[in-house]
Amino acid sequence: MRTDYCGHIDRRYLDQTVTLFGWAHRRRDHGGVIFIDLRDREGLVQIVANPENEALFHTAEDVRNEFVLKVTGLVRLRPEGTRNEHLRTGEIEVVAHTLEVLNPSLTPPFMLDDDNLSEPVRLEYRYLDLRRPAMQRNFRLRYRAAMTVRQYLDRLGFIDIETPMLTKSTPEGARDYLVPSRVHHGEFYALPQSPQLFKQLLMVAGFDRYYQITKCFRDEDLRADRQPEFTQIDIETAFLDAPEIMDIMEELVRELFRETIQVNLDLSFPRMTWAEAMYRFGSDKPDLRIPLEFTELTDLMRQVDFKVFRAAADLKDGRVAALKIPGGNTLTRKEIDDYTTFVGIYGARGLAYIKVNDCTKPNEEGLQSPIVKFLDESTLSQILQRCGAANGDLIFFGADRAKVVNDALGALRVKIGHERGFSSGGWKPLWVVDFPMFEYDDESHRWVALHHPFTAPKEGHEAFLDSDPSKALAQAYDIVLNGWEIGGGSVRIHREEIQSKVFRALNIDTEEARAKFGFLLDALQYGAPPHGGLAFGFDRLVAMMTGADQIRDVIAFPKTQRAQCLLTQAPSAVGEAQLRELHIKVR
Ligand code: AMO
Ligand code: AMP
Repeated sequence: MRTDYCGHIDRRYLDQTVTLFGWAHRRRDHGGVIFIDLRDREGLVQIVANPENEALFHTAEDVRNEFVLKVTGLVRLRPEGTRNEHLRTGEIEVVAHTLEVLNPSLTPPFMLDDDNLSEPVRLEYRYLDLRRPAMQRNFRLRYRAAMTVRQYLDRLGFIDIETPMLTKSTPEGARDYLVPSRVHHGEFYALPQSPQLFKQLLMVAGFDRYYQITKCFRDEDLRADRQPEFTQIDIETAFLDAPEIMDIMEELVRELFRETIQVNLDLSFPRMTWAEAMYRFGSDKPDLRIPLEFTELTDLMRQVDFKVFRAAADLKDGRVAALKIPGGNTLTRKEIDDYTTFVGIYGARGLAYIKVNDCTKPNEEGLQSPIVKFLDESTLSQILQRCGAANGDLIFFGADRAKVVNDALGALRVKIGHERGFSSGGWKPLWVVDFPMFEYDDESHRWVALHHPFTAPKEGHEAFLDSDPSKALAQAYDIVLNGWEIGGGSVRIHREEIQSKVFRALNIDTEEARAKFGFLLDALQYGAPPHGGLAFGFDRLVAMMTGADQIRDVIAFPKTQRAQCLLTQAPSAVGEAQLRELHIKVR
């Protein structure tokens, strides 16, 4: 019955009678003539209701925003001067012969073309929010992207195999979402944090190349780039080494950007070790669009009397670093105070600075700063030299445990870089490699896996598993784009004795290892091939390609920062009977 989508009606339909379906986007009463912009997923077309057709005109008078309409009418050219070049349908209009209201609508809680909507309202009425052309575009791009991924991987012989959602814990560093079992009193399934263990088992099973675009569940603190359930492009291969896997993944990202948004990324993504990334940018996902870099001062500060710097430099895991802001001299007191508050979020206890007025005078005369009086001229002059400071620059300092300094100055670097126009724009992909196997967790006082515990150590680093876990590097690689970690992967451990060693380094004893991962340890002993892979954060990739600054805009029904669905009101209480059936009592 429908001739075409509203948004497709153009000159080709001139003088033809068309039947259209859609939503009333706007109704304009032009004294005697009523115009209705009829909208569907492809766009808008202008409907004209003339008073000569009385019944139709009355119906048109009653039409309100978001009414669902069926219109039959004649396509004609719009009068000269009323044509709209920006619209595919802008040359024509449809003079209605019949107009039927298929369903009225309550007054929507917001105007669909309002650009400043509050997110809670958008999420509560998500089905209306999703009607907005910008959101429709996001999801079509998301679909295009998924298709491109599937075609690429299919071409390379990867096959899509589904893995369970009701399963056992797959640790990726977050808390599990648990599902109580009705049949097994007091027992629980865990929703997968990733398909990691299953994809490894699929390699043991001989599939050689697996992929899946699938949901993962992680109960963790949420941010703009994190959701409790999100989608991975999960990939695994057998018999390939890290560089070979990275090449396949890199080409996937290039093809994705080329096919979906016609962007040509670098022909070869730069690679940087984790240590270098932390040293230069304080981050394992540096935004390379921003040219600002850290200057190392820890060694220098071991020789000064200024307590704040000296104490940090003397710590075993301490660091003193500087971040030079070219031309930063113009920052006001208030701006510096705001940045000080900002770094406080990351645990920094202050934000010392030096304004460089005259670098030939490394003292209170040439430098404006609350800390100059604590440092001698020779030290100050070395700071200026190391930073390559020029007159008009400002230097920020971080002094604390390395983690705090890196987090605080690293975040400040990105913030100032964007706010003060240092960003080069464009697309800056990067591989970060040579991650440590483990990091020390201050809360639980033990080593934890930086990636996941199934990551293989670098060649020659196995011995460190027993002797000094802090020194062991992993065959792991993260792929970073404009400061977002868009994917991560590794070569896996494919031998049982090494896997057991890693569990021991993680303080997981044999009994616990058997209970949690016995099936994996067994599988590794039945001819597990060398294997490895990677998983992309699909929501993040799509968000970047659409220009969204948070992944909620590319997830149809996302959760809030507090992990709630405002549309369905999940999570919600359940009845006593249901709890009883699940053998659960709420404390
Ligand atoms: P990882 O934990 O790095 O690796 O996850 C892979 C990618 O998934 C994305 N991601 C998220 N996206 C949105 N919300 C979240 N809460 C979230 N958490 C992670 C990131 C990340 O790079 N099994 C391994 C992969 C492997 O080794 O093959 C894994 O899950 O973009
Ligand atoms: P104070 O001696 O505490 O007044 O600090 C002198 C200056 O050093 C102030 O500008 C503080 O913001 C700064 N500061 C204090 N602690 C730190 C720290 N851990 N790292 C960087 N700067 C700091």
